[in-house]
Amino acid sequence: MQLSLNMKLLENIPVLQIFLLLHLSLISGVQRAPKITTLLETVDALLDHNATFICEVDSHPLADITWMRNNYPIRHYDSRYIIRENGQMLIIPNVKDTDSGEYCCTANNGIGEPAKSCGALQLKMKPQIKRHPTNVTLLLESKAVLPCVSLGYPKPEISWLKGDELIKVDSRISILEFGALKIHNIRKEDAGQYRCVARNSFGIAYSKPVTIEVQAPAKILKVPKERKVQIGTEVALECNATGNPVPSITWLENGNTITGASVEETLVGEVIVSILHVVVNKPALYTCQATNQHSGGANTVKATAKITVSVRFFEA
Ligand SMILES: *[C@@H]1O[C@H](CO)[C@@H](O)[C@H](O)[C@H]1NC(C)=O
Ligand SMILES: *[C@@H]1O[C@H](CO)[C@@H](O)[C@H](O)[C@H]1NC(C)=O
Ligand SMILES: *[C@@H]1O[C@H](CO)[C@@H](O)[C@H](O)[C@H]1NC(C)=O
Repeated sequence: MQLSLNMKLLENIPVLQIFLLLHLSLISGVQRAPKITTLLETVDALLDHNATFICEVDSHPLADITWMRNNYPIRHYDSRYIIRENGQMLIIPNVKDTDSGEYCCTANNGIGEPAKSCGALQLKMKPQIKRHPTNVTLLLESKAVLPCVSLGYPKPEISWLKGDELIKVDSRISILEFGALKIHNIRKEDAGQYRCVARNSFGIAYSKPVTIEVQAPAKILKVPKERKVQIGTEVALECNATGNPVPSITWLENGNTITGASVEETLVGEVIVSILHVVVNKPALYTCQATNQHSGGANTVKATAKITVSVRFFEA
């Protein structure tokens, strides 16, 4: 026995008995292969706490105990470790994630086979969100990747919430290996508030909520109608357009800005309705032009109506 615990026991035994014990052990225990009496166990260590492996050896003569981590020998002078009790105790102070792995002790006294025992160091740590997702503005049909980088041991499972609902993955929506949420072919209904959730056996962590805003390029829904009017008639041409942000509408006459016309504009939900009132004295092309500015740049769409004029014949 090499542990100090056993030495303490001996202190209380009369000197004579010690002699006797030593004598007995010399006769009965001489020269045998080492035996590991306390095998290594899996050690669950909290980050920044100390981890200790015990490898208690029964050996006569005293065994030489060596340690390995992931099959690499640990040197006695390696300041990362503290080795005590003639090598029967390995202390890893202030455990880091890089310390996890398999640890083995080997006892060798030159007689028979060396004895070996292995155990694992497992870090335990509540999940933490290391990198939060951020607000994004995306164009319809584009793709979104919201990051969510977490820490924790065991490695946390990542899920995502939209509002309060758990997101179900499908052919369009996936959760990538590192926890990021990927949405293909963004739709209008993907707009909303998202959070990632990291969970392991020690706890749960939520990311900050972030917003996905979905933008849509300007689109004309109602095109102005072609008309044939009598000269000098005031016509009303209607055009409506939608998009996110809501587009602005301008009117052109033969490709130029119009003078002497009035425009009536109303917003109905996300649709802007524009009515041009113009007095027609000659045939012309009237163009409704809708423009919006979104994350993908500016977008302009046009629709043109031809207004033809019929000459009024005065009746005699
Ligand atoms: C960890 O080990 C170091 C070095 O032996 C010691 O100073 C420290 O008090 C220990 N910390 C804890 C939390 O046991
Ligand atoms: C994200 O958007 C929300 C509202 O849409 C806002 O309250 C929040 O401050 C934004 N966060 C950042 C980091 O810009
Ligand atoms: C815009 O035009 C479309 C197509 O004509 C029509 O269905 C819709 O009701 C219009 N919207 C508004 C707000 O006028």
